[in-house]
Parts: sequence; structure tokens; C-alpha cells
Amino acid sequence: MITISVANQKGGEGKTTTSINLADGLAKRGFRTILLDIDPQGNSSGIHTNTDRLEISMFDLFHKKLPLSKILQPTKNENLFIAPSNIKLAEMETMSSNTVEAPFILRDSMEELESYEFCIIDCPPSLSIFTINALVASNFVLIPLQAEKFSVDGIAGLQQTITSIQKRINPQLQIIGALITQLKHHTILTKTIIPVLDKFFKVFENSISDGVAIGESHLAKCSIFDYNNKSRQAKEYESFIEEFLNELKK
Ligand SMILES: Nc1ncnc2c1ncn2[C@@H]1O[C@H](COP(=O)(O)OP(=O)(O)OP(=O)(O)O)[C@@H](O)[C@H]1O
Ligand SMILES: [Mg+2]
Repeated sequence: MITISVANQKGGEGKTTTSINLADGLAKRGFRTILLDIDPQGNSSGIHTNTDRLEISMFDLFHKKLPLSKILQPTKNENLFIAPSNIKLAEMETMSSNTVEAPFILRDSMEELESYEFCIIDCPPSLSIFTINALVASNFVLIPLQAEKFSVDGIAGLQQTITSIQKRINPQLQIIGALITQLKHHTILTKTIIPVLDKFFKVFENSISDGVAIGESHLAKCSIFDYNNKSRQAKEYESFIEEFLNELKK
């Protein structure tokens, strides 16, 4: 299984939107895929479940050390499975973060998992114990971000965390690249910021434009592909997934 953390400690950069659509797009291509929500906001879980009524969730994985296979729920997409979270997960942040095993709980829970090809982890907007668990359990990090000054400023903190996890715990962790989201085309910002980002890591050639179809798809509780396959953003996420799969082959 290839595990990808969709991470950026800055809020609102497109982590959840990218996780939902990447996971759905991979599953639609026939890959058995897990969408793992490790954010107490439960935004990606809300697309597939009623987060007010979860009988079992990522809270139980952290609290009772349940294996991930016991947390998974089917979705309308036959190849897509959700590991949901809700606000209850926030309790775990203070309860368990200072034990020696704390960074490894998610990785340990995946040990006996079989027959899944991808696991996409929607991380919270912080470098909390949840993001650390995700990075420890992952092969790759995908960084969604906007072409904005403050977004670029925040990248150094994320890079430091990734480097220290690579050095101490998970040497195989790699940044697969950055995906520009909510792009307003032909602005001065776009022209100046993308060349700066290029110096830090690969920036995917495909980016996702700013458009109402994304917000509407969240409201309709579905992926952009199920909401409107002809929308500009559906085509852009489709091309991004193609580029992403090619990048994995390198
Ligand atoms: N391409 C897009 N066009 C227009 N709006 C978008 C686009 N991508 C994301 N958004 C909107 O931007 C907001 C933030 O997106 P999203 O929730 O995916 O970010 P996030 O990084 O997961 O946020 P958080 O840090 O709170 O978890 C949402 O309201 C979403 O609908
Ligand atoms: Mg989110």
C-alpha cells in the first residue's frame, strides 16, 4: 500500500478538497483506496458519513489501539473506504501525545491491513501529534497550497517537521510535490510565487483553479467528479491524478 499524507499546517489551503478528490479519483480508476481523516474537524468524513453519529472512528484507533481495518467503512464508491473522524478525536491530542508510542499509533494500526493500494490521509491544519502520526505512517507527503505570500511563508515549518521525521523515524518519507489550489490565473501573485516554490520542491504542472464548483460539491456531499464531471476543476483534478501517478512511477 502507498500511503500519502496530504499536509500543510496552514489552514484552508485545500488539504481536504484534494484528499476527497484524489481518493475518489484513484478509487474510480479501480485502485482499492482508503480516505483516512485524521483531522478532528471531520471535513472529509462529512462527505461520506454523518459525523454526529459515528459509532466507531479514528478516536477508537488512538484510544483503544484498534487496528485500522476495524475503523473502515464502505462508501458509495465500491473501491473507496473511509476511516472517519469527528470532534471527539480532539480529546486525544492532550491525552496521549507525551507517551513514547504516541507518534507510532497509526503506523502500528496499519500493520495487518491487506489488499488496499492507496491510503490518502487528510491532515489537520497544525503540526500536532496527528500530523506526526500521519507522516510517520506515510511513504509520501503531498502539499496543497495557494499561490499567496502567507502560504509560502508557512512552508519552512512544514519542511523542518518533515526533515526531522525523515532523520529520526521514517527515512523513506518523501515530498512528492506541491499542488497549487484555488488558483486565480494570470495574476502577478501567480507569476512571482510559483518560481519561488519551485526552489523548495516539485510543483505539479497541473493546478486547480478557484471556482464555485468545489464549494458546491462539498455542499452536495460528493467528489467533484460525482458533482460535475464536466467542470473545470474536475478536469484539473483528473489531470493532476494522471501526473501524480506518473510521478509515483519515477
Ligand atoms: N479550487 C477551489 N476553488 C474554490 N474554492 C476552493 C477550492 N479548493 C478549496 N476551496 C475552498 O476553500 C476552503 C478550504 O478548502 P479545504 O477545506 O479543502 O482546505 P483545508 O486545507 O482542508 O482546510 P483546513 O486547514 O481547515 O483543514 C473550503 O471552503 C473549500 O470549499
Ligand atoms: Mg481540511
